[in-house]
Amino acid sequence: MSTSPRHFLQFNDFSRAEFDYLFERARWIKGQFKGYQQYWPVTDRTLVMIFEKASTRTRLSFEAGMQQLGGCAIYLNTRDSQLGRGEPVEDAAQVISRMSDIVMIRTFEQEIIERFAANSRVPVINGLTNEYHPCQILADIFTYIEHRGSIEGRTVAWIGDSNNVCNTWLQAAEVFGFNVHVSTPPGYQVEPERAGLYGTDHYEEFSDPMEAARDADLVTTDVWTSMGFEAENEERLRDFEDWQVDGEMMRVAKPDALFMHCLPAHRGEEVAAEVIDGPQSVVWDEAENRLHAQKALLEYLLIGRVNV
Ligand code: CP
Ligand code: NVA
Repeated sequence: MSTSPRHFLQFNDFSRAEFDYLFERARWIKGQFKGYQQYWPVTDRTLVMIFEKASTRTRLSFEAGMQQLGGCAIYLNTRDSQLGRGEPVEDAAQVISRMSDIVMIRTFEQEIIERFAANSRVPVINGLTNEYHPCQILADIFTYIEHRGSIEGRTVAWIGDSNNVCNTWLQAAEVFGFNVHVSTPPGYQVEPERAGLYGTDHYEEFSDPMEAARDADLVTTDVWTSMGFEAENEERLRDFEDWQVDGEMMRVAKPDALFMHCLPAHRGEEVAAEVIDGPQSVVWDEAENRLHAQKALLEYLLIGRVNV
């Protein structure tokens, strides 16, 4: 009798205890990597990465991460696989999961990854969908903890679009017990059902972005136009112009507040250069930590808990 594999399709698929374990492993794995210590727990395992949208960080961190753990990674995209020619996602899942040990997918609707997972013999990781980006927030919270300690009870200000990254912060707030102050332009507010939120009291909406940022421990934002929404770009440029994280906004946050951005960033749009390139910004640590946090995730999904 086979048991169904664990997947990481949205942030709240994992418990607080599991995240605490993953952060402990990520710290250890990062230390090994920094010390040039070989750590190959998955020498005979294969990760398949399916990209239906562009990527720099996600591809690099998963591919390098899997190789650094001793395994191998195979990259597939829609353009030159049968996925772009109408092969049903259920069929692709059956085949791909018979030839690999774990799959990471970056795609459009969350429903696509759920259908894939339902037909997969191996764990499936969400590498970004229109609705969520759980690997990003895994790395972001690990980064926050490295810099400032526990995130429980803290206030995160989300300024801009209520997109996949925002939705994932909102799920993480429930798991870790912190608060998110969200400010979006009118018409772009959080849709609780799409965000996978049910009766949460961990977020509050602000019409004025300065009020959302006031006394925050962490200020974060993302592009005004996410992948897949390019047709709305012109309209969004107009609608979001007052939602830029600039120096004035950082000054109303706590003096030791951090700034995060999942990247890629557009200086002069969602963030001013003085902020992203300034002393409160931890965006490069955030990007690097994608590698270490996802190596912990791969290890956990492939071989389970490691006694340390
Ligand atoms: N932050 C992030 O996921 O970056 P990529 O789109 O480059 O993978
Ligand atoms: N919200 C952005 C994140 C990119 C990493 C997008 O979906 O395009």
